Amino acid sequence: MKIYRAALLRFADDGSPQYDSDGLLAVGPDAQGRECVLAAGSWQALQGQWAQHPGAEVMHLPGRLIAPGFVDMHIHYPQTDVIGAPADGLLPWLEHYTFPHESRFHDRAYADGVAEFFLDELLRNGVTTALTFATSHPASVDAIMAASQARGMRMMAGKVLQDRHSPDGVRDDCEQGLIDTEALIGRWHGVDRLGYAITPRFAPTSSEAQLRGAGALAAKYSDVWVHSHASENLDEIRWVRGLYPQARSYLDVYAGFGLMRERAVYAHCIWLDEADRALLRETGTAAAISPTSNLFLSSGYFDYLKADAAGFRYGLASDVGGGMSFSPFRTMQAAYVVGREGHAKQGFSLKPGALWWQHTAGAARALGLEGVIGNLQPGCEADFIILNPSCTPLLARKTAQAESLDELLFAMIVLGDDRLIEQAVIAR
Ligand code: GUN
Ligand code: ZN
Repeated sequence: MKIYRAALLRFADDGSPQYDSDGLLAVGPDAQGRECVLAAGSWQALQGQWAQHPGAEVMHLPGRLIAPGFVDMHIHYPQTDVIGAPADGLLPWLEHYTFPHESRFHDRAYADGVAEFFLDELLRNGVTTALTFATSHPASVDAIMAASQARGMRMMAGKVLQDRHSPDGVRDDCEQGLIDTEALIGRWHGVDRLGYAITPRFAPTSSEAQLRGAGALAAKYSDVWVHSHASENLDEIRWVRGLYPQARSYLDVYAGFGLMRERAVYAHCIWLDEADRALLRETGTAAAISPTSNLFLSSGYFDYLKADAAGFRYGLASDVGGGMSFSPFRTMQAAYVVGREGHAKQGFSLKPGALWWQHTAGAARALGLEGVIGNLQPGCEADFIILNPSCTPLLARKTAQAESLDELLFAMIVLGDDRLIEQAVIAR
């Protein structure tokens, strides 16, 4: 059993942050042998019971903060090298940069190399779990799953389904794509900490037959994730309307094929109406808010106030390579800006604890992994990060002056980057 003594951040069931400036985190194997949180709270209250325990190894980390590992709800590992590609909006960006690059992932050795770099980059930035797109090539899934398994990481990924309106090299065949998806579910879903996600790229690049087949698999494998994009960009929405004139809305296309349910995650969800929001809530579907991507591609602003009024689940995502950074601090900072800009008239702004929650316990809840990851309450898997709030001269100066938890968290959100992450610890 390991006992960590440091400042400690975790979240209550209602999403509010709980903070111990002198905290104790006890980590040890659960009944299945997985490293879990055994106790968390103030050092004063808990040290008598836990730190004196025979066999307890005590790690004292003065000046450090322990927090849940970040959870990235939507990312594309094959787009690691596409970050910062200049293009005029989503559709040209896909055509000129993303599809040509993704065509390289038929080569397993190439995919292995990018997968290793990607996981290194996630961990350097304090991200311990992600829901990631692979490409349309099954080898790209094998690469990210095998690399994540070797590191003991909780990771969800899936082969992209895209059988139309896609160039040679990334387009799959309707029937074969579904056969490959089912084979990959059998190979990887529930193996160690891995999960499979049925991954139609977005409505325009799948035939109706492919979306119908994806929906049938989503019904057959109910604890597998569904992962796609929705309502990101106005040109994209016009395209969907032309392809599916009978659908009430973009999200309604997915609903019609049985692709909205618990553990279904749609990136962006910017251009929704009230019926779409009700559909998200009623089906238990989640939105992955991707603010650096939405700013980079000028897609629009996620509407936090209407999302909260409707009561559907959401969390934060980098959407690399449409997104501009792997760093959860850049993503939280952009979400703050989006919240302000999108609700300038209402004078709304997101609170620092809420931003952090959206990238940890809130993201885990949206993914159907509440109480498993994204938090450090007893019973959670022990994926956590050790932060050094004094990692740069300005952060040291600013965090030393913080007079409240909000001020401490916000200093890190605004000024932080990968230098804040001293270590990412994965439950083994
Ligand atoms: N819509 C369809 N494919 C993509 C993608 O790769 N990135 C983003 N941001 N949107 C998409
Ligand atoms: Zn995306």
